[in-house]
Amino acid sequence: MHIRRRPSWELPESAATPESVYMSRRALLGAGAGLLGAVGLSAGAEAAGFLDALGLGGAKAPSGPAPGDPANDPTRDLYPARHNDAFTLERPITPEDISANYNNFYEFGSERSNYQIADVAAKMPRRPWTVKIDGLVEKEREVGIDDIIRAMPLEERLYRHRCVEAWSMAVPWTGFPVKELVAFAKPLSSAKFVRMETFMNPDVAAGQRRFTYPWPYVDGLTMAEATNDLAFFVTGVYGKPAPNQFGAPLRLAVPWKYGFKSVKSIVRISFVAEQPVGLWEKIQGREYGFWANVNPDVPHPRWSQATERDIGTGERRPTVIYNGYGEQVASLYAGMSGDKLFM
Ligand code: MTE
Repeated sequence: MHIRRRPSWELPESAATPESVYMSRRALLGAGAGLLGAVGLSAGAEAAGFLDALGLGGAKAPSGPAPGDPANDPTRDLYPARHNDAFTLERPITPEDISANYNNFYEFGSERSNYQIADVAAKMPRRPWTVKIDGLVEKEREVGIDDIIRAMPLEERLYRHRCVEAWSMAVPWTGFPVKELVAFAKPLSSAKFVRMETFMNPDVAAGQRRFTYPWPYVDGLTMAEATNDLAFFVTGVYGKPAPNQFGAPLRLAVPWKYGFKSVKSIVRISFVAEQPVGLWEKIQGREYGFWANVNPDVPHPRWSQATERDIGTGERRPTVIYNGYGEQVASLYAGMSGDKLFM
């Protein structure tokens, strides 16, 4: 994600940065603390947190199985789930070793490539994990994630994913429609939006020690969006429980919207009357809005959205409105042309 007013320790990143430049910057970082000044890192707690997030802060690599190892997931017997043929793709699935090592998960750092996020996120314990369902519902409750996953009709769907930074991938998610959880939650008719919130644990998520971000990560959908068949809660990927960097144990996938709407590692789902303000909208409301529907004709204030780079093939392809899902979702926005639907 790109924030205009970057703190001094934040590395400038551009969606257009060639991979070679990206990689050589990683090499620079790895070369030692003497280079910190050269890349603009400041001393102090913020920089220490940043280094921890990069795994350069002296923290030892975990010995033995990582607490977040999906191989130990208590629901692993449910995979692979039934494949739903209604969700097919015209492009190749992104190889797992690429998508699993190119993640945006700011709680664990801001370097999306080169294994850093995957390695650091693996330290996050996946259990115990509960999801609070609250707000405008018949009865507020806190439910164990395994009870949720076992109660839901798991299936595999192939989805496109388009990040606002103009990169894309194609992923075989496993999960269940958000509307199933909405039915389980029994919202009141006064509920107009679903607000989703990520865990808060700065002990394992060093990024959350950066006080410049309004943690926890939050975003949301209208009730109509949440109950559209495409809105999906992800529990697994590539036929297995999802590794932590993908947002285990529960993550949203709304493929017609920019990726920042797809909240990861959810601990709270609230049914509310007011439109939620997401983390990125809170930080930079002129660049990131509530709707965030993909549209090649509406540029981000600082870059074009006309094309995207497929992280699997490396190809650049034209972006399609609603990321190609217009048939399923365009009607949700009928008559709303005055709203900022595409940021
Ligand atoms: N959720 C949380 N909690 N924290 C994040 O930093 N990044 C978002 C989204 N969900 C993010 C998040 C962004 S910008 C994108 S593009 C996707 O997660 C990335 O998902 P991926 O890492 O599985 O590709």
